[in-house]
Amino acid sequence: MSSKIRAGLIGVGAAVPEKILTNADLEKMVDTNDEWITTRTGIKQRHIAAPGEAASDYAIKAGKIAMERAGITAEDLDLIIIATITADSPLPACASIVQDKLGATHAAAFDLQAGCTGWVYALSVARNFVENGAAKNVLAVGVDLLSTITNWTDRTTCVLFGDGAGAGIVSAMKDDEYGFYDFVLGSDGSGAPALSIEAGGSRVPITHEALDEHRNKVVMNGREVFKFAVKVQGDAAELILNRAGLSMEDVDLVVPHQANVRIIESAVKRLGIPEEKFYVNIPRYGNTSAASIPIALNEAVEAGRVKKGDNILLVGFGAGLTWGAGVMKWAY
Ligand code: ACO
Repeated sequence: MSSKIRAGLIGVGAAVPEKILTNADLEKMVDTNDEWITTRTGIKQRHIAAPGEAASDYAIKAGKIAMERAGITAEDLDLIIIATITADSPLPACASIVQDKLGATHAAAFDLQAGCTGWVYALSVARNFVENGAAKNVLAVGVDLLSTITNWTDRTTCVLFGDGAGAGIVSAMKDDEYGFYDFVLGSDGSGAPALSIEAGGSRVPITHEALDEHRNKVVMNGREVFKFAVKVQGDAAELILNRAGLSMEDVDLVVPHQANVRIIESAVKRLGIPEEKFYVNIPRYGNTSAASIPIALNEAVEAGRVKKGDNILLVGFGAGLTWGAGVMKWAY
């Protein structure tokens, strides 16, 4: 054991809305069909929040499960980071609402925005707080209710997205053989127009006209994002494994961002890691943005796909455009 603190995950959890929207349901809403959605994306259904529900509702549910599994209470938290692009409202941070409702009286709280890469960014920030000694226990949540920022008349985007939350507790490892090896994070803001919401910020405040034109909803250049994703996903995975001193054979499980099954297939080909080592749940959830990787990781843990000592690779990409990857030795 060295004297250096090593951070890692000691508990994960997830929560999704009850309501399911199938491809057949979407066929009644826009000019699309199950065959197109399935072959182009792999998605069969997605979970959709009820009217009046907000990101913090699901962040709290996922966070409580993660804390229980980690064997800590809200009082033990020093920091709450919520990765989201769909906070309850522009002000205050979703994290402050979660902090209050959990009763995390000793915790600082802030939101982090890196699109679908948000949870990988949040883990990296949490790791630094823990390894620098500034925090003992950090709740890192990825949550998005993309249904609230989706233009439900735009078939090029509305078939892709879903709602949900995933959470992890980042703490100092008791045995420093386990925990995070490293992270790589990146951004190329020149790609911002490929995935954006025009109105509702300081450049274009909300107006009646903007609302009428759906300019407060997501627009995406799917082909541009696809090309970007295929490249950065492979680059980030190779770089992080290299930095961690691991080979492709050392990887026991890959948990990629669940945006499109074809993007995941491209990673299988490029990295040469067998397909069965990739955890894929996109058919059941669609793209849940910052929640996608933690929901998938939580499912993998619940399904017994993860055992102590496994090397797990997380890799994501999203609006910004951003990307990130992390690798860890699973601790429990
Ligand atoms: N149903 C039926 N037809 C459709 C639909 C639909 N839902 N959507 C588009 N089409 C049509 C198009 O109009 C086009 O028709 P045309 O040839 O007559 O013009 C045709 O299908 C092909 O469209 P493409 O956009 O070329 O289809 P593509 O194979 O690129 O797939 C997709 C589109 C699925 C969006 C893909 O580009 C993709 O997955 N991109 C990446 C998206 C992503 O990963 N986003 C992640 C970030 S999300 C975040 O950060 C919130």
